[in-house]
Amino acid sequence: MKRILITGGAGFLGSHLCDKLIAEGHDILCVDNYFTGSKKNIEHLLNHPRFELMRHDVTFPLYVEVDEIYNLACPASPVHYQWDPVQTTKTSVHGAINMLGLAKRVKAKILQASTSEVYGDPEVHPQPESYWGKVNPIGPRSCYDEGKRCAETLFFDYWRQHQLKIKVVRIFNTYGPRMHPNDGRVVSNFIVQALKNQDITIYGDGSQTRSFCYMDDLLEAMVKAMNTGNDFTGPVNIGNPEEFSMLELAEIVLKLTRSKSKIIFQSLPQDDPKQRKPDISLAKRALGWEPKVRLQDGLKETISYFKTIA
Ligand SMILES: NC(=O)c1ccc[n+]([C@@H]2O[C@H](COP(=O)([O-])OP(=O)(O)OC[C@H]3O[C@@H](n4cnc5c(N)ncnc54)[C@H](O)[C@@H]3O)[C@@H](O)[C@H]2O)c1
Repeated sequence: MKRILITGGAGFLGSHLCDKLIAEGHDILCVDNYFTGSKKNIEHLLNHPRFELMRHDVTFPLYVEVDEIYNLACPASPVHYQWDPVQTTKTSVHGAINMLGLAKRVKAKILQASTSEVYGDPEVHPQPESYWGKVNPIGPRSCYDEGKRCAETLFFDYWRQHQLKIKVVRIFNTYGPRMHPNDGRVVSNFIVQALKNQDITIYGDGSQTRSFCYMDDLLEAMVKAMNTGNDFTGPVNIGNPEEFSMLELAEIVLKLTRSKSKIIFQSLPQDDPKQRKPDISLAKRALGWEPKVRLQDGLKETISYFKTIA
């Protein structure tokens, strides 16, 4: 049994990670400031003897005794991270410094939930980990993209300078139950609109593609990355390389929800990447992992969840 800290543990991915690691027999400390997360996501764990919840903002130092840290704290969707961009950068950068400082003090292994956004609007397709990215440093998305890039820098400097045991995973679009209904992300947007029989909004002409990873697949890879030997640091891409255009996604959602919604088109937001697809050769090789859940199956689970909260 390990003592594991999960920052952002009341969020979409963090709460599922709490479930997974509790089920594996570990002792979990869930830390969250509830900016985008919710107690509802971890309510069912509150009476569990191996689960502890702490309201805390990772931009402030934390003093606890743990063996492993999964650092997930950070709003992940543009509507949320652009709402208070200064706080978003602080969460990524100060949060990383505080959690790395903690890992150094207690000699814990630490994993960073990084993002495909570090690749920006990529000129290379699909994106391997060796690609350095094309990121606007001064745009409305920069607080998130550059914050996450700086967090990666900090992780690798703590590794080089202080020999910390680090793991950096670059997460590509992930979806599933407990996503926020109003976070403006494409999967939740389409499902909510379809369930309400409202028009489905596609930005641009719908030909831009995304790859979607179901949360069970993602969490399996994340835990595998944490459990690799000390010589493995990442960064490692985790995502589903199968590409779907926005138009295809909308059509699948319409079919699965049996919705009467119509598809409408609006102009693309600034700096919206046109294509994003992970090269997961490293994850396959180093983690022995690849995604298994088909989009249709993952969407069915997600739609069932959205029906319960509608
Ligand atoms: N879901 C995805 O597709 C995706 C893709 C790439 C990267 N990620 C990363 O994975 C992590 C989890 O994402 P998610 O989709 O579960 O988002 P989420 O918004 O549901 O979860 C983030 C959690 O962090 C908490 N948080 C935010 N600021 C905090 C702070 N200062 N102190 C303490 N807690 C704070 C929020 O309240 C929330 O519970 C994030 O770091 C995100 O950047 C997610």
